[in-house]
Amino acid sequence: MYQSTAWTYGIFLTSWLCWSSLLTGAQNSITHPEEVKALKEIKRSLIDPNNNLRNWNRGDPCTSNWTGIVCSNGTSNDGYRHVLKLQLMKLKLLGNLSSKLGRLSNLTILLLSGNQLTGPLPKELGYLPNLNILQIDENNISGPIPVSFANLNKTGHFHLNNNSISGQIPPELYKLPSLVHLLLDSNNLSGYLPPELSKMPQLQILQLDNNNFNGTTIPASYGDMSQLLKLSLRNCNLQGEMPDMSRVPKLLYLDLSSNKLNGPIPPDRLSENITTIGLSNNHLTGEIPINFSGLPRLQRLLIANNSLSGSIPSSIWQNRTLNKMENLTVELQNNELSNITGSTDLPPNVTVWLQGNPLCSNANLVQFCGSKSEGESKSQSPTNNTLLCSCPPSYEDSPISDGCACAAPLLVGYRLKSPGFSDFLPYRFEFEDSLTSGLELVRHQLYIDSFEWEEGPRLKMYLKLFPVDNHFNHSEVQRLVTLFESWKIPAQPPIFGPYELLNLILLDVYKDAIPTPQRSSLSKGALAGIVLGAIAGAVTLSTVVFLLILRRHVRKTSAISRKRRASKASMKIDGVKSFTYGELATATNNFNSSTVTGQGGYGKVYKGILVDGSVVAIKRAQEGSLQGEKEFLTEIELLSRLHHRNLVSLVGYCDEECEQMLVYEFMSNGTLRDNLSAKAKHPLNFAMRLRIALGSAKGILYLHTDANPPIFHRDIKASNILLDSKYTAKVADFGLSRLAPVADVEGTVPTYVSTVVRGTPGYLDPEYFLTHKLTDKSDVYSLGVVFLELLTGMQPISHGKNIVREVNVAYQSSMIFSIIDGRMGSYPFESVVKFFTLALKCCQEETDARPSMAEVVRELESICSRMPEADAITADHMFTNVAKVVTPPPSSSSSSRVKYPYVSSDVSGSNLVSEVMPVIKPR
Ligand SMILES: *[C@@H]1O[C@H](CO)[C@@H](O)[C@H](O)[C@H]1NC(C)=O
Ligand SMILES: *[C@@H]1O[C@H](CO)[C@@H](O)[C@H](O)[C@H]1NC(C)=O
Ligand SMILES: *[C@@H]1O[C@H](CO)[C@@H](O)[C@H](O)[C@H]1NC(C)=O
Ligand SMILES: *[C@@H]1O[C@H](CO)[C@@H](O)[C@H](O)[C@H]1NC(C)=O
Ligand SMILES: *[C@@H]1O[C@H](CO)[C@@H](O)[C@H](O)[C@H]1NC(C)=O
Ligand SMILES: *[C@@H]1O[C@H](CO)[C@@H](O)[C@H](O)[C@H]1NC(C)=O
Ligand SMILES: *[C@@H]1O[C@H](CO)[C@@H](O)[C@H](O)[C@H]1NC(C)=O
Repeated sequence: MYQSTAWTYGIFLTSWLCWSSLLTGAQNSITHPEEVKALKEIKRSLIDPNNNLRNWNRGDPCTSNWTGIVCSNGTSNDGYRHVLKLQLMKLKLLGNLSSKLGRLSNLTILLLSGNQLTGPLPKELGYLPNLNILQIDENNISGPIPVSFANLNKTGHFHLNNNSISGQIPPELYKLPSLVHLLLDSNNLSGYLPPELSKMPQLQILQLDNNNFNGTTIPASYGDMSQLLKLSLRNCNLQGEMPDMSRVPKLLYLDLSSNKLNGPIPPDRLSENITTIGLSNNHLTGEIPINFSGLPRLQRLLIANNSLSGSIPSSIWQNRTLNKMENLTVELQNNELSNITGSTDLPPNVTVWLQGNPLCSNANLVQFCGSKSEGESKSQSPTNNTLLCSCPPSYEDSPISDGCACAAPLLVGYRLKSPGFSDFLPYRFEFEDSLTSGLELVRHQLYIDSFEWEEGPRLKMYLKLFPVDNHFNHSEVQRLVTLFESWKIPAQPPIFGPYELLNLILLDVYKDAIPTPQRSSLSKGALAGIVLGAIAGAVTLSTVVFLLILRRHVRKTSAISRKRRASKASMKIDGVKSFTYGELATATNNFNSSTVTGQGGYGKVYKGILVDGSVVAIKRAQEGSLQGEKEFLTEIELLSRLHHRNLVSLVGYCDEECEQMLVYEFMSNGTLRDNLSAKAKHPLNFAMRLRIALGSAKGILYLHTDANPPIFHRDIKASNILLDSKYTAKVADFGLSRLAPVADVEGTVPTYVSTVVRGTPGYLDPEYFLTHKLTDKSDVYSLGVVFLELLTGMQPISHGKNIVREVNVAYQSSMIFSIIDGRMGSYPFESVVKFFTLALKCCQEETDARPSMAEVVRELESICSRMPEADAITADHMFTNVAKVVTPPPSSSSSSRVKYPYVSSDVSGSNLVSEVMPVIKPR
């Protein structure tokens, strides 16, 4: 739709640029021809099912901003631009790595993580003299590591974990003078562990878990690595004795578990900052070294399932002072341990597991011998799992002054790929501080919303970046996104290891800050001139130049004016009328600004009077919101099939060149939001509010269950619920590209980092915001917020206060009557409480705790049915009065009164079909 339009623009724009640069001979801004050729080869060897690389045929890679390519800016000695970075992560790419990657001789960063690439690593990658970061982790790469990689003497980061790489690790890799992180875990490597690797002068992390090193030993030389922080050789089929690691001064993390190591544990004291010692599932014998005592940072001592004997020095946990952030877990199950020396009192925050040892027959020690339950959760969320729009807990003393700042955070999915600890809490603040300063933010702007341990172990977390003022300005958003995307955040303390960006979510308010990659920067005028009559498809330069010249002569169109043509819509859509531009221009007095009744992201809404006298609302897409014709008509076709008394119905549409308009029935009483505002002339009473709630819920239920395909509204809010002349609630703004997602939302977007979450702050399902998983319960949440507005009259967010939180607080302290909207007149106590309870249930943070839309309808019907008769009558009376005042009905007798759902039997809600409106006849 919009994108395909932009795409078409792109083809011509690019060709236009090529053409003009040829004409002017401006050669210095183009990519080196060798590299252009190489990129085309690279693309040819990839399979790109989601067509993310669709612009990789057009024009010049560097000047046309091909997806995932970052170039030098044209100041190279040879006068050409060179590809510096290739970033194609998480694009679901298949196929092989082309040997032509070796031709990108200036490449510094190659990121291909998280695709499904197969085939071997080309040896040519080893000939990239400038390569600093090589990440091809999480693919299906096979074959050996080429010896040529030993030439990569600028490479600091080598991430090839989670592939099917086989064979011997080339001993020659020791020549890599700059290598800091070597991650080869979860592959099929075999052979032996080269002792020479210890010669790497900078190596901090060596992670080789889950490989099969044929029963060889761990070289003793690994105990001599001066910069090593982490050695992880878990499940590598290693045997022999454990090396003495006491001479590794900075060691933080040692995991040798699940091998066949035998012999004793070397007795010398390990580094003072060690956090994790993992030796479980081996054949270790002898005693537990006394030197494991009082290690000041120790979090995990895991030596279960070995053959250790002797007694356990309780000084391991007694000689530790743990602050409240710290925990120490000692696992020694299934050994031959016979006693504990020293006090058996356990300090708080210490857990010791001793099950399966002889000492368990000692009645004094059975407390340590319970079985380790599976109840231990791998994921830890901060206790205060904050709502989307609430402030971070540290907010009180923060310099962020305006309460509204908390309404519009940026959300960043971030992952530590190989951290040097097992518990994050003791390091959390150091992490926050260092990243805050790395991003040049002020304290309290960055907040870790939640975190979770994953396989690896890797630590995934969601960060919220809060603006200092109401929201970030565009240049600030751009600055932050660039820092994250371009790998430019200054290095964090080494304990945090390498990181990766998982995603970066921008709320609607920020979506204009980041230009869509395919979007043009030429003026709209010039664009329109080029684009008119555009054809799609990849075309060679000469054809394009020819076509351009031809077309520009053929079509003398004013660049900016929107050209009208008689409707060419050949597709006939039942039930809706196809209007001409002229008809709608007449209806709106030529789109006079006095007829504008609203403005949305899509465009303006006009009130129009058709020739037959009927009043309609006309939604007119602005330039930039236009969809492709086919998509537009498909959507109309879909909308035309939706009929329900609680949905605003589509009357017709107009689709002419450069104009797309939707024509809806006009709702004379405006939006629910306006009717709830303090300025509303005729406040709604409780019965009317209940009825509006029920109507809205029924309309949405119809979208969820009766529409085919089902539609999730995604943007339910009080201003999208309209009231007709009889105050019947009608849901608006559904259908426009709001189909329920077929697969996951992530990955179908062309750039992996910038995903726009649809919706309005204050109404947005916190779980959708966090996970991107859109479900029907996201609409339930938003509708719950509308219910709270109906009850309290409050805005979802005002003065930094979030309605859900405010009502929850009042509800829990039995104070709801202090927040009820005073203007809704008298109401039955019991019904109001039930309505509050339902609303808050809809606004639960956890998706599963929310009722389904069908349950919401059922509960509202039950509340309505129990409304005392008297109330219903008063409400009815009141309602007719209001209706009379606002729009005098043509025949305002009592017989024309609208029946209340809760007193009439014919609208039970279970019978949606009976409510289906007759199809509107084409006019
Ligand atoms: C390519 O990106 C650069 C820098 O972001 C921008 O200045 C330029 O206009 C873009 N070119 C095109 C054709 O989009
Ligand atoms: C780009 O150009 C600017 C000045 O024009 C220069 O400072 C910068 O180093 C250049 N960057 C690259 C990558 O060549
Ligand atoms: C970039 O590549 C060109 C051509 O291959 C080469 O001449 C130049 O030295 C390279 N620049 C750097 C910084 O390696
Ligand atoms: C990197 O390798 C090149 C050639 O293989 C060599 O000339 C250069 O000195 C090496 N750099 C370092 C820091 O070892
Ligand atoms: C090691 O294992 C690989 C594959 O599992 C096998 O091909 C190789 O012969 C083995 N080497 C030794 C020395 O056992
Ligand atoms: C241990 O950590 C402390 C605090 O981070 C640091 O000052 C000290 O240098 C570290 N010790 C070693 C041996 O790295
Ligand atoms: C544990 O602490 C006590 C008292 O502080 C001390 O006497 C003892 O030597 C310590 N034991 C070890 C193994 O560090």
